[in-house]
Amino acid sequence: MSENHPINDLSPGQVLRFYLDAGVDETTGSHPLDRYALSEASAKAPKPTRPAVAVSPPKASAGAQRPGAAASAASKGVPSSVAGQSAAIAAAAAKSLEELKAAVEAFDGCALKSTAKSTVFADGNPAGRLMVLGEAPGSDEDRQGLPFMGVSGKLLDLMLDSIGYSRETAYLTNVIPWRPPGNRNPTPEEVALCVPFLERHVALVKPEVILMVGGLSAKTLLNRPEGITRLRGRWESVNTAGLGQPIPGVATFHPTYLLRSPQQKRLAWRDLLAVKEKLDSLASA
Ligand code: URA
Repeated sequence: MSENHPINDLSPGQVLRFYLDAGVDETTGSHPLDRYALSEASAKAPKPTRPAVAVSPPKASAGAQRPGAAASAASKGVPSSVAGQSAAIAAAAAKSLEELKAAVEAFDGCALKSTAKSTVFADGNPAGRLMVLGEAPGSDEDRQGLPFMGVSGKLLDLMLDSIGYSRETAYLTNVIPWRPPGNRNPTPEEVALCVPFLERHVALVKPEVILMVGGLSAKTLLNRPEGITRLRGRWESVNTAGLGQPIPGVATFHPTYLLRSPQQKRLAWRDLLAVKEKLDSLASA
């Protein structure tokens, strides 16, 4: 950083305040990195030419019509971004969960990856009958590389336990595999980039029932604009790309919200009982 950069006029406390306001809430390395010097060096370096990606537009899927995808495509006047196309191609090429995990880890088209420590793919039993879909990793999940590791994860474990399920019998994943900085909401464009991976994930696991926790997971998987208060507690058909048969899914409140609004646990409990009844009825059908 140059010696007369304005940040040098700030006291250490003011610098910390600046970082906190900008969403920085943890350090990720023991040595400071001068990113100004790095960006000056990379500005001087010869620009790599973008590889010619010979891609045919991905097949239209529910994801292609999502608000973020549609808005960004419409505003640029192209059918879809290069990153969106490569996400769709990489996801479609994955023939197993291992291949999908490797494809998500190798995908560099979503900026969230560059600020996250881990790619948080999934936890639990891929052969489980129940899939739980959350929103995005937080700091605990980013640190440990697994979904639902923090306080809200503990509550989710208790919720699953109350209907006789656990990480041994259910499969847990998120819409977004990278922690948004400062736990901000992901943008519609970021969500749209992750949708091909999510849809492939659902198609490869093919659970019997999906429990969507939180508004983002319900809106994204159902491709609906309503908020969680309207979407929760109703059985819906999840009919995303690559599923031969629709899967019954129900949305409920996110455990983080339930921690803040415990009076809503009554409704969440109703949703969980509905999940148990659905799984029981499918098993005896
Ligand atoms: N909230 C989520 O939606 N997912 C996680 O993995 C953690 C917190």
